[in-house]
Amino acid sequence: MKKILVTGAFGLVGTELVLELQKRYGKENVVAAAHSKNPGEFDGILEQADVTNPEEVKALVKKHGIDTIFHLAGILSVGSEKNPAAAWEVNFNGLKNILNVAKDEKLKVFWPSSIAVFGPTTPKENTPLHTSLEPTTIYGVAKVAGELLCQYYFNRYGVDVRSIRYPGLNGWRADPGDGTTEYAIHIFYAAIKEGKYVCPLKPGTYLPMMYMDDAINGTIQLMEADPSKITIRTSYNLSGISFAPDELVSEIQKLVPNFQVFYEPNHTQAIADSWPKSIDDSDARKDWGWEPKFGLEEMTKEMFDNLKKKLKM
Ligand code: SER
Repeated sequence: MKKILVTGAFGLVGTELVLELQKRYGKENVVAAAHSKNPGEFDGILEQADVTNPEEVKALVKKHGIDTIFHLAGILSVGSEKNPAAAWEVNFNGLKNILNVAKDEKLKVFWPSSIAVFGPTTPKENTPLHTSLEPTTIYGVAKVAGELLCQYYFNRYGVDVRSIRYPGLNGWRADPGDGTTEYAIHIFYAAIKEGKYVCPLKPGTYLPMMYMDDAINGTIQLMEADPSKITIRTSYNLSGISFAPDELVSEIQKLVPNFQVFYEPNHTQAIADSWPKSIDDSDARKDWGWEPKFGLEEMTKEMFDNLKKKLKM
């Protein structure tokens, strides 16, 4: 990884990954590509790229002599349901374009899959890596197809593509996107700004989650691992914390004792109910030494303290 391109560079993950890659590999070696958004005060190499346009991606790769792509551009679960055709175009065809460039230019690729590959027929507890994948969302359908495409490009063309099924990721630097697990970020903004929150999921809705710092470290660790250690070319399960909204609320109430929450489940409840509660990540631990650091308490404190500073409250 000498010259890195990050697509979706200003999304929830990209915002934090770019900073960490800049720190580790040097600002001059990280190209941040965004679709259209003006990132404001970004300090680094900035490019505009539409991942649905293969020529544009190829031109960027050639211009900067890129050898590694972190392909993060995508539309999350709730946003994808609003426009399934656009979701397929960006989430699946976008990946296909990146893999084609990677094949032609001999690039290494990271692409995030998600717990959204699972569905109602998947075992809910300690969900294995190899299991029934029958998602009910177009986001999940594109992730399953994407995982298989990654494995195909590895087997057929030798593309060194690596992937993680991210659980719900919670970070404070970027605004949360249009996803199902993102309630666990919105709730902090509400706690700090309003002291109350209307929660779209019922108490007891356990979902696999993770603090962003763990996700960033895991992602870079996977990409730095010796290729001989990578036995999974679809996507690795990765587990951090598993919690339900009411448990998160109790943690936040330790910091904001008067914080009030009203549970009004909406259409995202059905999506959450179709996903696992906890994940078995033994392959990632065995193959490349994955180990998360943040529990619910630590995550809550980090989210709260950093957001308070960011919001100047
Ligand atoms: N956080 C994502 C979503 O809820 C899951 O990959 O859409």
